[in-house]
Amino acid sequence: EGPVPGLRVNDEGKIWVPQRARPRRNRKTEGLRSMVRENSVSPSNFIYPLFIHTKDYNEEISAMPGCERHSLESVLKEVGEAEALGVKSVILFPKIPEDVKTNAAEECYNPNGLIPKAISAIKSRYPNVAVWTDVALDPYSDQGHDGMVSADNRGDGGMGRILNDETVEQLCRQAVCQARAGADVVAPSDMMDGRVGAIRDALDSYGFTDVSLVSYTAKYASAFYGPFRDALDSAPRESSNAPPNKKTYQMDPANSREALIEAALDVAEGADMLMVKPGMPYLDIIHRLKAATNLPISAYHVSGEYAMMKAAAQRGWLDERESVLESLLCFRRAGADAILTYYAKQAAQWMHES
Ligand code: PBG
Repeated sequence: EGPVPGLRVNDEGKIWVPQRARPRRNRKTEGLRSMVRENSVSPSNFIYPLFIHTKDYNEEISAMPGCERHSLESVLKEVGEAEALGVKSVILFPKIPEDVKTNAAEECYNPNGLIPKAISAIKSRYPNVAVWTDVALDPYSDQGHDGMVSADNRGDGGMGRILNDETVEQLCRQAVCQARAGADVVAPSDMMDGRVGAIRDALDSYGFTDVSLVSYTAKYASAFYGPFRDALDSAPRESSNAPPNKKTYQMDPANSREALIEAALDVAEGADMLMVKPGMPYLDIIHRLKAATNLPISAYHVSGEYAMMKAAAQRGWLDERESVLESLLCFRRAGADAILTYYAKQAAQWMHES
């Protein structure tokens, strides 16, 4: 039997598909593969999101197996373990008791509140860990919105509006309160217009010129935040005077040019780093922002993405270690410098094992 028609044999009589370039040559050994590898991911790229509450015991979060609402004691332990594995940044999210929630969310700048207490406890025990905070009203809002809701009905669907400028003032108070408690990085996630510049000015005028500001620049109105909202009981309320979704302030998932508008504003307003959120369905946005700005880019591998991977892994449908490490590397390839991920500690552990 001769060669398949169209194929040739070489001078040795062996089958030959003539071609000079053979990309597989650069993949033939691990030595070569590691030599030409373009991207890598390490624990120092991670920011570890942690949920805290006022109770002195931990509570499981049903749609996020492996994550918990931590007591103060437990969050300190978790931060220490993460730091030992090379994860040098954490971001804190509070579950606030219902009875202190209000429309104006005044609890968000209570100097004796849950977040300021946790920041100062972490900073005094682990001074080298960078503590990030989320700046938005939703965990403190009795409406479940990132901003204050108007009493009128001039908004979308004949309902209340999310008041932009009034909210920005509250966010400034919140960010200054977090900075006073020792936050290294404040990260506004609220998507109000003009908040980055206003928060920068407020921090600076109180002397916090060294506190960094990472803007949730391109934050989409996404269904992938569901498990997070369950964890904090922070979803928009049906009882709210405003629509039970965040579409009047978070971005439309159909849009990408709008992300460039937000990025240009955040750069001009003094942001130190930009963020894209969610992560995996939005790698194109990471890539576009990376090309459009010289600031570092972070990506948020959000709660719903974590839940999907956990669910598949628990059923034995995905190799959790391999698929998670691949996903994190892909964020880096897309252009993310830093990654906020609930897998931070686990991924760092896996990296140390191999
Ligand atoms: C608060 C905030 C949210 C997340 C981070 N900060 C929820 C939201 O905007 O509704 C989501 C994070 C996640 O899903 O992991 N503004």
